[in-house]
Amino acid sequence: MNILGIETSCDETSASVVRDGRVILSNIVATSLQEHQKYGGIIPEIASRRQMEFIDLVTRQALNTAGLTLKDLDAVAVTESPGLIGSLVVGRSFAHSLSFALGIPLIKVNHIEAHVYAGYLVDRAQEQLDRLREFPLPAVGLVVSGGHSSLFYIKDFKSFRIFGQTRDDAAGEAYDKVARILGLGYPGGPIIDKLARSVTENDIKFSCAPMEGTNDFSFSGLKTAVLYYTQRNAAKGFAVEKVANAFQESVVNVLVRKTIEACIKKGVASLLVGGGVAANASLRTRLVEAAAVKGIKARFPAIPLCMDNAAMVAGLAQHLL
Ligand code: KG4
Ligand code: ZN
Repeated sequence: MNILGIETSCDETSASVVRDGRVILSNIVATSLQEHQKYGGIIPEIASRRQMEFIDLVTRQALNTAGLTLKDLDAVAVTESPGLIGSLVVGRSFAHSLSFALGIPLIKVNHIEAHVYAGYLVDRAQEQLDRLREFPLPAVGLVVSGGHSSLFYIKDFKSFRIFGQTRDDAAGEAYDKVARILGLGYPGGPIIDKLARSVTENDIKFSCAPMEGTNDFSFSGLKTAVLYYTQRNAAKGFAVEKVANAFQESVVNVLVRKTIEACIKKGVASLLVGGGVAANASLRTRLVEAAAVKGIKARFPAIPLCMDNAAMVAGLAQHLL
């Protein structure tokens, strides 16, 4: 079965064909990110206008790359929510129209749940891998993106039950805001990730609110702690890379500790991580190691699949269909 996925929730316009919910035949992503950089965040009006310009181009390219035509499609999948409404409406209208014209089913997919699914996808060269067997359900899913930091219990791919989330900022949002405080540019995650790696010893320490007794996260106090540190030390100066490193340590510590605790509480041996912050080098290493100590297998998607893409939407849709 070939499913065409469409993802337009924010500043990426993506189309992908996934075979049997698993094998990526194509995954085309266009983005307006560069246009937003000078504003330090996404401008919804710009994002939705670019979505309109890109949507049919990425779809044509996704079909060409997969070596298929519209007639070869069995279903169309689209990100239903959450996202910027002006961006979402472009993908949803486009996908609705295609499904109507072709007389094939339309499957609406939740963007956050799709991020969790990204780790199950393989490319044509890895077709023999069976990740469903490698990472059997039930599993715990951690989604850490620009808009969400959530823990899910996944009994099967039709029922994602959320049991923990951020009470304020998302992890990616904290990265972006701290980068702004430090004058590092947007998006902050990849810049802080790279800067933090250059630090071997650090006397600066921040701590994240532990939110004891809950499965929830809180990152806004940490962001304020960074702001106060920079204000207090503005006159004498400070090493930006050390502040970035201390901030990242604190985020990674809390994500690793609470996620492993959650897996143990839920009695699962599979952990799936997704979303933009899942591209973070320190989080990837530390979470895989901490999980292995407890006999849990942790799975991160390939770096490009951590970001917004339509393959994760098309893949999950197969199970919903
Ligand atoms: O999942 P995503 O592409 O879009 C949303 O659905 O939000 O995530 C974007 C977020 C941004 O906040 C960005 O700063 C963060 O992911 N991010 C990272 C890294 N790469 C992207 N955060 C930490 N380390 C990274 N390497
Ligand atoms: Zn996303």
